[in-house]
Amino acid sequence: MKNIRNFVIISHVDHGKSTLADRFLELTQAVGERKMRPQFLDMMDLERERGITIKLQPVQMIYKTASDTYCLNLIDTPGHVDFSYEVSRSLVAVEGAILLVDATKGIQAQTVCNLELAKAQGLVIIPAVNKIDLKVAQTEQACQEMANLLNIREEEIIRISAKNGTNVEKILEAVIQKIPPPKGDPEKPLRALIFDSKYDSYKGVIAFVRIKEGKIEKEEKISLMATKASSRVKEVGVFKPELTTLKELKAGEIGYIATGIKEPGKVRVGDTITNFESGVQPLEGYREPSPVVFASLYPQNPDDFDLLKDSLAKLKLTDPSFIFEPESKEALGRGFRCGFLGSLHTEIICERLSREFGLDLIISAPSVVYKIIDKDNNEDFIYSSSDWPDTSLIKETKEPWVRLEIISPSEYLGKVLKVLESIERKHVENKYFGQEKVLLVYEVPLREIIVDFYNKLKGATQGYASLSYEILGYRGGDLIKLDILIAGELKEAFSKIVPQKDIFEEGKKIVKKLKEVLPPQLFSVPLQAVVGGKIIARETLRAQGKDVTAPLYGGDYSRKRKLLEKQKKGKKLLKEKGKIKIPPKVFLEVFKSG
Ligand code: GTP
Repeated sequence: MKNIRNFVIISHVDHGKSTLADRFLELTQAVGERKMRPQFLDMMDLERERGITIKLQPVQMIYKTASDTYCLNLIDTPGHVDFSYEVSRSLVAVEGAILLVDATKGIQAQTVCNLELAKAQGLVIIPAVNKIDLKVAQTEQACQEMANLLNIREEEIIRISAKNGTNVEKILEAVIQKIPPPKGDPEKPLRALIFDSKYDSYKGVIAFVRIKEGKIEKEEKISLMATKASSRVKEVGVFKPELTTLKELKAGEIGYIATGIKEPGKVRVGDTITNFESGVQPLEGYREPSPVVFASLYPQNPDDFDLLKDSLAKLKLTDPSFIFEPESKEALGRGFRCGFLGSLHTEIICERLSREFGLDLIISAPSVVYKIIDKDNNEDFIYSSSDWPDTSLIKETKEPWVRLEIISPSEYLGKVLKVLESIERKHVENKYFGQEKVLLVYEVPLREIIVDFYNKLKGATQGYASLSYEILGYRGGDLIKLDILIAGELKEAFSKIVPQKDIFEEGKKIVKKLKEVLPPQLFSVPLQAVVGGKIIARETLRAQGKDVTAPLYGGDYSRKRKLLEKQKKGKKLLKEKGKIKIPPKVFLEVFKSG
């Protein structure tokens, strides 16, 4: 055990974690040259296409120094704020963290947040500044900021280029020297902490574990302490990074246990696996994250409801941070109300449901959870705008507020303030990291930042400003429900809760967007925004004529007239029924436009 090191790489998004992991994989020859590709540990297609890490990914590497051989267990983590639950779960499985800062960007919001999480776990921190090869790198400034943040000397920071490999080996040396080997007695009863999982149709749920005490082999009987599920182990092994079978796993190691359990809900992250019947204390586990953004998902084809249910359960194994509950709406049929950690998280889950499970979905506009106090002083949480009661029943409305922290280079301060002007906010304080970088602290309604705010901020500052937030609690708000009618029919999925003062602007924006993105129809379609039965904005989707007579040659007038008559009748029927099929892309576009 003295030659094992368990560690993570943490940083703000895009500071180079996966690229640094690539160099480690090469140095340790963990992945053959032929198989190697950039950002190797970003295994999902979606991660590779978007260039972001979504999932934590463990890998075991064997590192030989002149005098010894070490087993290095690395967990690569995501950097985006919406996936911070992946980071916090990884931190509990390791003893140390490499904190990476991009020399062109310096400290950013997730650098600070992830560092706080790592410090709370008592991890040894190895600081490094990355991308020193770039012409625009401001290495010394980044080192200064980091030294201030960590209260260390600048010389302690390793300056690297993950791309070129410069000084990367120094990091591995620091990992070996500074991070302590894991503790834990292999002779005690098994206690294995589940930090992640995935589904395999042959081996059942595969639990990713850190063995804290004891050991485990194939065929042994195990039980899960919280869910009380039990089974016989199908296989144990480690991540290379693909699953690689071993005879046993023991205290201090990171690996997997193929549980053979087929019901996804029975294996939960944070639970403890043991091989003893009684007398074992469960490990501490994790604090469950609280979803802050809610959206309803409905299968486009109502027959896919069971497939959606099954897919959500399986997806939850690889991403335990979202929640789902069945709901049904007259207009949409049966679906699920789901809770997410942010809007990127919402988008990624929907995309994964479509790619990995072949589901076509209708997705409601994401919303925060509102609180309503009715005339009888009863409090009610509103997870979906369609549950918003009639105005006459409401005494008071409340919404969640957050403490928003933005870190930006001082030169972009004016632009950041301009973006902030567009939202409701309360200034708390400004702090400076050296002279070049400023931290702005505000209190804002969560509603203001869940959709598109981050993109606007990044756009205004060429990607240099970053943000993080934490929930403060509920505060009073002057909120009202805005409905959307298409061809006179209420389309609940587009309903939205907005502050009274914004209803006209918001109503106009939605109907305008709908006009842009709805496919052409054969008859003209009114698009209306309505508040309390009153129309406050309107657009018309013009009819697009289809030349039904095109296939006809020559001047057979009676045939032509017949076809035109038929078309007219069809249009009338459609108009009377008022049914318009809205492709899911339209929901996504409207929902993205905020
Ligand atoms: P997330 O996991 O999504 O937070 O990203 P990450 O931190 O894993 O960053 P990633 O390794 O994906 O790198 C982000 C971008 O920076 C990629 O385009 C890399 O090629 C580039 N990059 C990483 N390290 C270096 C470096 O040392 N030099 C240069 N020039 N580019 C680098």
